[in-house]
Amino acid sequence: MKKTAFSQFLIFFSFMSSTAFSLERTIDQKVDALLKQMTLEEKVGQLTQYTGDLAATGPITINPNKQSEIRNGLVGSMLNVLGTRYTRQYQELAMQSRLKIPLLFGLDVIHGYKTTFPIPLAEAASWDLDAMELSARISAAEAAASGIHWTFAPMVDIARDPRWGRVMEGAGEDTYLGSKIAFSRVRGFQGEKLGGIDSVMACAKHFAAYGAAIGGRDYNSVDMSERTLWETYLPPFKAAVDAGAATFMNSFNDLNGIPATGNSYLQRDILKGKWGFKGFVVSDWGSIGEMVSHGYAKDGKEAALAAIAAGSDMDMESNAYRNNLAQLVKEKKVPVKLVDDAVKRILRKKFELGLFDDPYRFSDPEREQKALNDPAHALAAREIAAKSIVLLKNENNLLPLSKDIKTIAFIGPMVKPLRDNHGFWAVELKDMDPGYIVSQWQGLQNKVGGATLLYAKGCDFEGDNKDGFAEAVAAAGRADAVILSIGERWNMSGEAKSRSSIHLPGVQEDLVKAIQATGKPLVVLINAGRPLIFNWTADNVPAILYTWWLGSQAGNAIADVLFGDYNPSGKLPMTFPREEGQLPIYYDHFNTGRPAPDETAVNYVSAYIDLKNSPKFPFGYGLSYTTFQYSDLKLSGTEMKRDGNIEVSLNVTNTGKVAGEEVVQLYLRDKAGSVVRPVMQLKDFRKIKLAAGETKPVKFIIDNSKLSFYNKNLEYGSEEGGFVLMIGSSSADIRLKAEFELK
Ligand code: BGC
Repeated sequence: MKKTAFSQFLIFFSFMSSTAFSLERTIDQKVDALLKQMTLEEKVGQLTQYTGDLAATGPITINPNKQSEIRNGLVGSMLNVLGTRYTRQYQELAMQSRLKIPLLFGLDVIHGYKTTFPIPLAEAASWDLDAMELSARISAAEAAASGIHWTFAPMVDIARDPRWGRVMEGAGEDTYLGSKIAFSRVRGFQGEKLGGIDSVMACAKHFAAYGAAIGGRDYNSVDMSERTLWETYLPPFKAAVDAGAATFMNSFNDLNGIPATGNSYLQRDILKGKWGFKGFVVSDWGSIGEMVSHGYAKDGKEAALAAIAAGSDMDMESNAYRNNLAQLVKEKKVPVKLVDDAVKRILRKKFELGLFDDPYRFSDPEREQKALNDPAHALAAREIAAKSIVLLKNENNLLPLSKDIKTIAFIGPMVKPLRDNHGFWAVELKDMDPGYIVSQWQGLQNKVGGATLLYAKGCDFEGDNKDGFAEAVAAAGRADAVILSIGERWNMSGEAKSRSSIHLPGVQEDLVKAIQATGKPLVVLINAGRPLIFNWTADNVPAILYTWWLGSQAGNAIADVLFGDYNPSGKLPMTFPREEGQLPIYYDHFNTGRPAPDETAVNYVSAYIDLKNSPKFPFGYGLSYTTFQYSDLKLSGTEMKRDGNIEVSLNVTNTGKVAGEEVVQLYLRDKAGSVVRPVMQLKDFRKIKLAAGETKPVKFIIDNSKLSFYNKNLEYGSEEGGFVLMIGSSSADIRLKAEFELK
């Protein structure tokens, strides 16, 4: 019986794999056949990407001939062309070309298309992989219904310096969490497989190490050891490849003196070589041409040569390929097979997307209308936004607020704006009613319709004008409770938005002081694209919610959390510093030979004489309206062999009065190695939901993969010896500890 089932399985399996194989072969054969018909100029055309004129996400080069070039088959892809109408118009031009090769339409769908989700850093604070996959899924469904084939997301750059404005776009500082999120986001965008009508190609960016720009200044150089590159910065990219990411984008920075765009070690040896990546690599905006400014190429021609040799397949907006590549081939400086390989990678994706069967299949206005107005999307955005909020402080359980409060003053520059809730990298859809964004004011009204709500702006995000303080203090004086919403305007974090000071901007912290002086119960909401510094507020105000930029449902989600309809469960994906002088700061640092024994020691220990080493808020930190107790840690053994594992189990109890979610975090420390190891590293986590009083068991498995690292010869593997296992509610709140040995 068993045998029969097994042989049936084998027949089925070989049928399936031969079908998959023949499908693959058909696409390869079609690509080869098409390639044979192409002129050199048409091949270079496939490697050329232009921006549309409606939006610019970088410095545009004026080119009045774009449309005729498309008609002549000299353009492979457009970015910033969106909506069924415009994408169809452009595709019609491509269909007039000799070989009728369809255009690919790419766009930065970073945290939503019409429905906007929390910025990626905020979503990372949810530690909810399913939620992040869902938000990418919905973003893909909306974008794909609007003619888009390809998103330039996820950004999987590890970032440890919040002065860098683009921390808002990634998953934060941690490699393990970042890799899990990279995998989920790629899956979300691409769905089960490329070609789904509600899916877009993902693009893991920026390859590589862009997040480590020196001093947190955007586009700056990166100087990094091989070990740090492999151990900290590359794993999320590898996770994206494992998830099947169709494309990669290289980056603006130089890495140890070689621009990433012209870096064949990164693109050929690692990505297309060691990792076997079959998709294509697009340059970042103008980054091929920028190799001239870097001083890596003397002109555009040399830059084009460096880029194609290094494995950059498509040129975004620098015209370096269009102007030079054919000539370079004719001069025999570039072997045509390099160009062919790049073209094949791009054509393959166009086939996989089904564009040769129907170039307009993503441009259906009826489907677009339906997808962009699906009420389920707003509901999901509201839930994910609530999950992304982090409760930083809640003295005397001031939160949640009672819905019976009679008069509430809602004060601050973030109360009434719409756009600012979106944050950076929101898609600007033309003719869209801004009313679909729920302002924080609207959200409060929706929640407590019966209460008297008072409003005062108080001050602006920036500047030193305090004229509005008196009105704000008066409003606070008349209220039973005050909510103060402050932070960063939508464009204060993002690309080219590095800041040397990440303190709360302008006079906002003075406004906090003035309102706090009224003695009224005060809740502060901090809206921002990065970790900010707000020491006075943190030390003096009883309740603080970090609300990031939460997207189109910000108002409703914030109200849900303020009044306890959602119990906050977010945990910080980045360390919050006390001062900029600590940057870069991250929890998984080395111990040094002279670790400070406590926060006061300064003499001949690794410390600052004017500041504590510890952060203001640590990685993994976030409170709840309830409390959790950890107990009964058990290990299935205290010795492990490389091919074995240890089962770890514990109980978590909700010891408070309301249901809540906890992120149970597992950290490991390798006590001694052939190279020094971090004081702790996140290796697993579970997000669990518990009713009041409920206890749930949590299980983890420690196997060799969790103990492995790059040894002194940069070989990946584990080393025998002792390990410390730490389980806690944040990186600085370890509740249970045990030790074990790898033998
Ligand atoms: C950014 C990329 C983005 C591209 C296209 C560049 O300036 O670095 O992340 O995808 O523009 O908008």
